[in-house]
Amino acid sequence: MRFKKLNDGNEIPMIGIGTWQLTEQEIGINALKYALKIGYTHIDTADIYGNQDIVKEAIKGKNREKLYITSKLWREFLDPKLVESECDKALMELDLDYLDLYLVHWPDRTKPLAEISYEMSKLKEKGKLKSFGVSNYTINHLQELLDQGIKVAINQVEFHPFLNQSSLLDFCNRHSISVTAYSPLARRKVFHDPDIKQISKKYSKTGGQIALRWLIQKDIVVIPKASSEKHIKDNFEIFDFELSISDMQKIDEIGKIRPKRLINPEFGDFEY
Ligand SMILES: NC(=O)c1ccc[n+]([C@@H]2O[C@H](COP(=O)([O-])OP(=O)(O)OC[C@H]3O[C@@H](n4cnc5c(N)ncnc54)[C@H](OP(=O)(O)O)[C@@H]3O)[C@@H](O)[C@H]2O)c1
Repeated sequence: MRFKKLNDGNEIPMIGIGTWQLTEQEIGINALKYALKIGYTHIDTADIYGNQDIVKEAIKGKNREKLYITSKLWREFLDPKLVESECDKALMELDLDYLDLYLVHWPDRTKPLAEISYEMSKLKEKGKLKSFGVSNYTINHLQELLDQGIKVAINQVEFHPFLNQSSLLDFCNRHSISVTAYSPLARRKVFHDPDIKQISKKYSKTGGQIALRWLIQKDIVVIPKASSEKHIKDNFEIFDFELSISDMQKIDEIGKIRPKRLINPEFGDFEY
């Protein structure tokens, strides 16, 4: 397993399994147990996914120190006074003593975001979290946190060949904030892209593996969601090949030719 060192000294596995919409008990537990069996250690969940009980069942009896569990604070609870009780709720649902990573799921400028992250930093001191971060933050949101002296470890954002967030990545790199790519397979769209199909043939890898590898070579953590054993295994087999610089550049261009943001709810606060 490859890891990325965070700015707080902790390490995150470069690949995790996403769990959004993994809500059917038997399918969910089996999928996550299979993922753990073949070597995944990192699971991405959230309060709003309604599946922390599934994650709990899948990780039962596993060596806690070998696992990496992320959860997220939902928008409704963006109140400094609720951060600890929401974290406690996640810990109870997951039957854990601590989370490896706790994220503010979405920014909301009407809420005291810096104070909320500060509350998370206090939970880290109390041992309820190893790291804290944010999700769906733009450069402006991150800059506002930095201006108030808050440095988060990670920003988890939509990132795939159709949404190549190179400016956000540069900004994060400059401030040593790690980036995690959600929807890294563009919710299956990568399998149908003509350029990815062509590159995929050249390396004898699937379109999904090409998209994940492109992210890994940018030092971005990936959390593809999959429920079938074949998909879970395929997504894990991305460390035995390397994309050439010219193929990396070709994929870099896809976002300019066929741009697409897939996750953009009405409360999203994106400038681009
Ligand atoms: N922070 C946020 O706001 C946020 C937003 C969205 C997502 N996320 C996180 O990121 C994770 C991943 O994103 P996502 O679920 O939106 O999309 P994704 O990982 O890009 O795509 C998931 C889809 O791709 C399919 N798939 C997976 N592996 C495949 C393979 N090898 N071959 C063919 N199809 C494959 C899955 O099908 P099967 O399930 O049938 O295998 C599923 O339909 C989420 O589950 C969640 O944990 C976070």
